Amino acid sequence: MAILIDGKKTSQDIKNEIAARVAEIKTEGGKIPHLAAILVGSDGASQTYVGAKVKACHEIGFESTLVRLDETISEEELLAKVEDINANPDIDGLIVQLPLPKHISVEKVTDKIKPDKDVDGFTPSNVGRMALNWPAYVAATPYGIVELLKRYNIETSGKHCVVIGRSHIVGSPMSILMARNGYPGNATVTLTHSRTQNLKEIAQTADILIVALGKPEFVTADMVKPGAVVIDVGIHRVEDASKKSGFRLIGDVKFDEVAEKASAITPVPGGVGPMTIASLLYNTLLAAEKKVYG
Ligand code: GUN
Repeated sequence: MAILIDGKKTSQDIKNEIAARVAEIKTEGGKIPHLAAILVGSDGASQTYVGAKVKACHEIGFESTLVRLDETISEEELLAKVEDINANPDIDGLIVQLPLPKHISVEKVTDKIKPDKDVDGFTPSNVGRMALNWPAYVAATPYGIVELLKRYNIETSGKHCVVIGRSHIVGSPMSILMARNGYPGNATVTLTHSRTQNLKEIAQTADILIVALGKPEFVTADMVKPGAVVIDVGIHRVEDASKKSGFRLIGDVKFDEVAEKASAITPVPGGVGPMTIASLLYNTLLAAEKKVYG
């Protein structure tokens, strides 16, 4: 049975570390980190995610501002709102929750965010800096995974890391981070996607398998090398009448059978998910202390 990589506990450890630093800042009379989140429209999942981010800010002593905008807002008005926050010296970090309504260009909005407030790490400047192995705000999910590998002392140097899924938010940056010269990193990386041939055979050669393709229980035990480290980024609701809520959460990995074969694995829920908020908070702390960018 694999070691459980506990994202819930690790994210709480990180939140405690950040809260301790906030307490020090308060004692020193320094500036309290302040995160602003823009939420456009009333998408249920986005409301839940943003609510969790704002709640986490309060828990650790950050200030937060939630800007709720109607989904009929024009692109120009949203860009103007981003400009306002860019120019507001009291706000250290800004996120614009995705997805945005179809009439608004994600590229234009992302490109408008000032890179030194881009605590989501989505701007071309931060993605480029990350790819160059320069100091940068790294996107929350890949950063959370890197932190889990570090805190569980998982050896990555010389290992074969297979990433399934090439999204801008997870798969693509993850492949860059695992290949870069450092720790975690120095892995030999294969980035696979919907057009990859022989995916199963490639996955079977992975020492570290990072799964972020968004298909429930896609990875089964026969795709996993004995002793592999398996990181599951997927999260899906499935109906379950035995639960009070009527549903349960599953990942992109068939957990029970893969856990029998892997040496370490992240559960869903309680694996990568909780780490994303901890990463966002950490980036916001860095932004407030002007430590990474600029
Ligand atoms: N939508 C889904 N994940 C994210 C995220 O990490 N940041 C933002 N801004 N939107 C998201």
